[in-house]
Formats: sequence, C-alpha cells, structure tokens
Amino acid sequence: MKLLVTGGAGFIGSNFIRYVLRENPDWGIVNLDKLTYAGNLENLKDVETHPRYRFVRGDIADREFINELFQQEHFDVVVNFAAESHVDRSILDASPFLETNVKGTQVLLEAAKTYGIQKFVQISTDEVYGSIKEGQFTETSPLRPSSPYSASKAAADLLCMAYYKTFGVPVVITRSSNNYGPYQFPEKLIPLMIRNALQGQLLPVYGTGENVRDWLYVEDNCKAITLVVEQGRIGEVYNIGGGEERKNIEIVMLLCELVAEKMGKSSEDLKKLITFVKDRPGHDFRYALDSTKIQNELGWSPSVSLEEGLSRTVDWYLQNREWIERVVSGEYREYYSRVYEQGWR
Ligand code: NAD
Ligand code: DAU
Repeated sequence: MKLLVTGGAGFIGSNFIRYVLRENPDWGIVNLDKLTYAGNLENLKDVETHPRYRFVRGDIADREFINELFQQEHFDVVVNFAAESHVDRSILDASPFLETNVKGTQVLLEAAKTYGIQKFVQISTDEVYGSIKEGQFTETSPLRPSSPYSASKAAADLLCMAYYKTFGVPVVITRSSNNYGPYQFPEKLIPLMIRNALQGQLLPVYGTGENVRDWLYVEDNCKAITLVVEQGRIGEVYNIGGGEERKNIEIVMLLCELVAEKMGKSSEDLKKLITFVKDRPGHDFRYALDSTKIQNELGWSPSVSLEEGLSRTVDWYLQNREWIERVVSGEYREYYSRVYEQGWR
C-alpha cells in the first residue's frame, strides 16, 4: 500500500513514519513537507535511506504541484498531518493557518477526488470542539473552536465531510488530544519547559496554571492512526484521547521533578523558575475526549501512562540537547521577541 504522508517532517508525522516503517512491512511512504520552521529532516535521519521511504519538498496548498504528484504516484492513502499547529502563532498571525490548514486541505481533497484514492485520513484535533468544564466531548459534539488555529482545523474538518458527502471522497477524521514525546518543537508546553529547565530559564505558566489538557504519548497516537488507516470507517470521526488529564501547573511541577532527578539537581531550585504570566487570549480552559468509539470499533486504547511517557520524553531531550538548539533557529528567536511583546513571557 502506498501512502502520501503530508507534514511528515514535523513532530507527529515523523514519529508516524518511523512507526509505520517498523510495524507495517507492506506500506511505502512518500513524505511531502514544505519544511517550515516546524519541519526538520533531521527528525527522520535514521530512515532517510529506507527502501520504502521517499521525501518530497512541497506545499500542500500548491495546486499544480499537488496534481502532478498525484498523477505520477497513484497513492492508495493520504494521511494529512501538514498544518500550522501552534495556537500562540495563530494569535499573532492567522494567515498561514488559513493558507495551509484550510486551502491546503482543500487542494489535497480535490486531488483525491480527481485521481481517486482508497482513504483520506485527516489529522484533526480535540480543539475543534472548544472548551468543556465538565464531562467529555464525543464525535457528535458541536464544533466551537476558540482560536484561529482551531477554527482553521474545524474548517478543514467541515470541508473533508463536504467532499465525502458531495463527491464521495473516502474521508476519515481523527481528533486527538495533546500529544507529547520525542521530536516535538520546543514552543509547545512540555518541550519548552524541559528546555528552559535545562538552561535555568524562567518557566512561563499562562494565567493561573489551572487549565487542563489530556495528554497522549505520541506513539499511542501513531498506533491509533495506523488502525484508522487499516480499519477506520469512511465518513466517520474518531476521537483519540490520552485519558491523562492534568492541570498545566501539575505538568510543569512533574517536569521539574523529573529533570531534577535525572540531572542530579534540586527540584525546589527548578520550581523557583516557575513564573505566572499574562494569559493566552481566548485560552480554552479544559479539553476532554470520550474515546469509546475507537476503543469499541478498532480495539485501541492508550498504553503509555503519563508518568512513563514523561520520563521517556525527558530522557530523549536530555540525550538530544544539540537537536533542541539546532531546531531553535533565528526565525524562532524572532517569534519569541513577538511573544514577549504580548506579555506571555
Ligand atoms: P508540527 O508543527 O510539528 O508539524 C507540522 C508539519 O507540517 C511540519 O513538518 C511543517 O513543515 C509541515 N507543513 C506546514 N505547512 C505545510 C504546507 N503548506 N505544506 C506541506 N507541509 C507543511 O505539527 P504536529 O504537532 O506534528 O501536528 C501534526 C498534525 O496533528 C497537525 O495537523 C495538528 O493540527 C494535529 N494535531 C496535533 C496535536 C499535538 O498535540 N501536537 C494534537 C492533535 C492534532
Ligand atoms: O489539544 C490538541 C492541541 O494541542 C493541538 O491541536 C495543537 O496543535 C497543539 O499545539 C496543542 O495545543 P495547546 O494550545 O493545548 O498546546 P500548548 O503546548 O501550546 O499549550 C498547552 C497548555 O499549556 C495550554 O493550556 C497553554 C499552556 N502553556 C503553553 C505554553 C507554550 C503555558 O502555560 N505556557 C507556555 O509557555
């Protein structure tokens, strides 16, 4: 089976490619990535010469390029990870989010319609449902996105369903909770806190730190997406939740303890770096997913506990300190100077 994986040089995409090449000996992968600030071929160094893997640089929103690629390659399955993925960046400038997340998805759907494929897996997010104080979102909960990022992802989901209903494009959507693990760009909460703790820099917690996220170890998500590729029903949505809800402040405390333990430092000294800063505008209070559907239909449930996953993640960042510094480019520093201006640091 031949897969087009878009955004495969990013965090979840690179973990997914590695997972598939290891676990699915009959699957070949073309990885199409624009290599934005978040995409890094170093994330796939260990598989770059793999006989079932090939990299192509390109933009999913470039219609001509995408049509040529589909014409040449005859894909069986598309797994669309490619996106602008960081909420804070969407608050500073929403335009690239509309271009990639909305237009890019529509260009891919149109190519899938024209050239024909067996399945189009759209990688979406729990953020499309918005915030929930109590209980959990199911796949039929209304979409109430809060940020430009989540609005662009919700728009892409609606386009996917429209292409399924109108043209019969064989779409399946996954909506997962917050992923964490190796190769995550250090702008997201967990790798940012690990990096800052290692460097003795402030640990900026937005607002009161009471906001809740449901954490999912990235390899568990890769396993779920693989099951959806194999057995997910066309026209359906599958929630993929980690079942590990924590307040942000709890995550930051846990990370201080883990980093301190592994570095032989005092956790109290690291906790002194925690600084409560101005809140993110429109900050969703809590995300929580009901994953009964994927559990019952596809037999998936998460296998890595938060404590185990965080320990593995801290180990990976400790062993890859040079990776962190290499991906933190000039562009990243420019981004942080704009974030400082907003008072989030
Ligand atoms: P990421 O930012 O680490 O990676 C995104 C990748 O897409 C990068 O390699 C980037 O170069 C590429 N890309 C961006 N624009 C492109 C374009 N126009 N054409 C081709 N490639 C392009 O993101 P991630 O955290 O790995 O997220 C992957 C997907 O999963 C996204 O669709 C995101 O919305 C979704 N998601 C992420 C999480 C999470 O916690 N990280 C949770 C749920 C859903
Ligand atoms: O829920 C899935 C989503 O999770 C994905 O769709 C997004 O692509 C991904 O970026 C992530 O979004 P969040 O906004 O939840 O992730 P982030 O790591 O940016 O923030 C997690 C929480 O931590 C959130 O409540 C904001 C807070 N935070 C974040 C940063 C970067 C801080 O308190 N301080 C920080 O410095």
